[in-house]
Amino acid sequence: MATNRTFTMIKPDAVENGHIGGILNMITEGGFRIVAMKLTQLTVADAKAFYAVHAERPFYGELVEFMTRGPIVAAILEKENAVEDFRTLIGATNPANAAEGTIRKKYATSMGENAVHGSDSDENAAIESAFHFSGREMF
Ligand code: PPS
Repeated sequence: MATNRTFTMIKPDAVENGHIGGILNMITEGGFRIVAMKLTQLTVADAKAFYAVHAERPFYGELVEFMTRGPIVAAILEKENAVEDFRTLIGATNPANAAEGTIRKKYATSMGENAVHGSDSDENAAIESAFHFSGREMF
């Protein structure tokens, strides 16, 4: 059975462009409850570890550089069927393919600078949440 939590980051491009409020509004309007949240900045070591699964992909270096260039908002979201419903809300990785009404359609500018991250499985949601938050920061 699907768990009810997922992990997200509002990425440096969206923070730089002043979209934290707009994205959080779409998240809460989409029925998600924020159960943990912080403004933080990834170190290169953090980003390499977080995206280790993509280490062999050609864009890995670019992804690490992008994700460390400024602050991000990290959050844990709660809703029934959270992982799948949040992936629907954020839209396709490439904003050119993102559906109308999705966060990436509205705020992403390119395949690399695509405004938000959403966990792709319940297992990764738990791993990614624990990467960013201690137990007493989750509510
Ligand atoms: S996904 O989310 O795993 O289905 O998507 P995927 O296409 O496998 O991409 C994995 C993460 O890599 C980012 N990405 C890129 N970054 C820079 N340049 C290029 N070309 C590129 N392609 C994909 C993508 O945004 C995913 O990051 P997250 O944080 O998971 O959204």
